[in-house]
Amino acid sequence: MKGVILAGGLGTRLYPLTHATNKHLLPIYNKPMVYYPIQTLVNAGITDVMIVASGPHAGHFLRVLKNGKELGLTHLEYAFQEKPDGGISDALSLAENFADNDSITVILGDNTTDADISEPVKHFQRGAQVFVKKVPDPKRFGVVRFDEADPSKVVEIIEKPANPPSNYAVTGLYIYDNRVFDFIRQCTPSARGELEITDVNNFYVKEGSLSWAELNGYWQDAGTFDTLLQANMYWANKQNPGFIESFNKGL
Ligand code: TTP
Repeated sequence: MKGVILAGGLGTRLYPLTHATNKHLLPIYNKPMVYYPIQTLVNAGITDVMIVASGPHAGHFLRVLKNGKELGLTHLEYAFQEKPDGGISDALSLAENFADNDSITVILGDNTTDADISEPVKHFQRGAQVFVKKVPDPKRFGVVRFDEADPSKVVEIIEKPANPPSNYAVTGLYIYDNRVFDFIRQCTPSARGELEITDVNNFYVKEGSLSWAELNGYWQDAGTFDTLLQANMYWANKQNPGFIESFNKGL
C-alpha cells in the first residue's frame, strides 16, 4: 500500500496567512500541518508516499520535508497540480504512475487526526473505503445517506447538502483500489469547476464496493481560521496535558 497526500489548492479561506506560504506548512502547535497526515500514514505502516502540491509556494515543501527520512518515510515523491483549484480528484489523478497498479491510502493535507487506520489499511482488498465522522455542521462536507432498511450500507454521498441526510461527514481519508484513476477519468467538473472526490466515491457506491468506518479518534480539517485554531488547541493539549485548562483559567 502506498500513500498520497493531497496538498494542492490555494487555501483562500486562510488569506492573508497563505499569501506567504502554503496552507499545509502553517503550524499546528509545534509542527507544520502536513506532518500530521504523514504521521498518520507512517503509523499505519505506509512509508512510500507522494505529495501533490500546487500554487506559488509549492517549492516550500522540499525545504521543510526534504526526502522525508526524518519523518519515517522510506520514499517521498512530489507532483505538481497545474490547476491549483482543479479539485481533489484532479490532484489525485497525478498519482496514477506512482500508484503503479497498487491500492492507495489518500489523505487531504489539511486533515489532522490521531485515529489509527492501520487495521483497515492492512485488511483492504478491493473497492473504496471512506472514514466518516459525526459533525455538528454537516452542510460543509460530503455527507453520507445510509440505507433506511440497512444502516450499515451507504446509498449516496451528497456534497455540501442543503438538507443533510445524516450528521456523518466523509473525512479526507480514503483507501482506493487502482480503478480510482478510471473513475476520475469519467468525472466532469462540478458547478464550482472542480473534479469532486464525492463523484468518485459515488462510482464505488453505485457499484456496491464502498465500505465505511467511523474514524476512531480526534479529527479536524484545519482549513479555516476557527478549525485551524481548534486543531492547534487540541494538539497543544494532547502533547501538553492541562494546556486548555490553564488557558481557560487565564481568561
Ligand atoms: P479545500 O480546503 O476544499 O480547498 P483549498 O485548500 O484550496 O482551500 P480554500 O477553499 O480555502 O481555498 O481542499 C481540501 C484539501 O484538498 C486541501 O488541503 C488540499 C486538497 N486539494 C488539492 O490537493 N487540490 C485541489 O484542487 C483542491 C481544491 C484541494
